[in-house]
Amino acid sequence: MRGESIMPRVVLHSSKRPYRHVTEKGEEVWICMCGFSETYPICSGRHREFAREAEGKYFLYDQKGNLIQELTEEEVVRLKIKSSRSI
Ligand code: FES
Repeated sequence: MRGESIMPRVVLHSSKRPYRHVTEKGEEVWICMCGFSETYPICSGRHREFAREAEGKYFLYDQKGNLIQELTEEEVVRLKIKSSRSI
């Protein structure tokens, strides 16, 4: 069982929609590109919750995918430095 501490995750939004893939049999499959699908790697439609967030910006989420706040690049660098020291 995991510990009680919550490890937030920083996400750089580079895509807000799924990637459409057509199999050799002609089946259409939508691949999750946002990273929040409940059925990953298949898109669950959850990307719609994040559609208002700007691409190319950093966002901090909790483990359940709830947005905590938008981050500046300086804050992301500080988080990376802090997390590398705790290893
Ligand atoms: S692209 Fe991730 S849930 Fe749709």
